Amino acid sequence: MPEFADIHSVYTPPKKLTDVEILRAIKFGIASEFEAIQLYQQIMESTDNPDVHKVLTDITDDEKHHAGALYKLLQVLSPEDEQQYLHGMQEAIENMSK
Ligand SMILES: [Fe+2]
Repeated sequence: MPEFADIHSVYTPPKKLTDVEILRAIKFGIASEFEAIQLYQQIMESTDNPDVHKVLTDITDDEKHHAGALYKLLQVLSPEDEQQYLHGMQEAIENMSK
């Protein structure tokens, strides 16, 4: 699989990704969006600067949109995985109702 984890990588793979590689890359992208959200929220919690809060709130909302878009793409490309996610959601609902 091409190296997506290194932000300094400028490597472009010589071939198109396989379906498995695409799914792996999308999952990595979703994780990266949540990581970015966490970073911006931590920065905001570390300062009272209103300009920082305004800009990072907007960026954080964008990252949430990106995470949602990537998750939707994952749902479409991998219905098998989606069934597992839905199963986990149902289990959580059942556990919370106990
Ligand atoms: Fe993003």
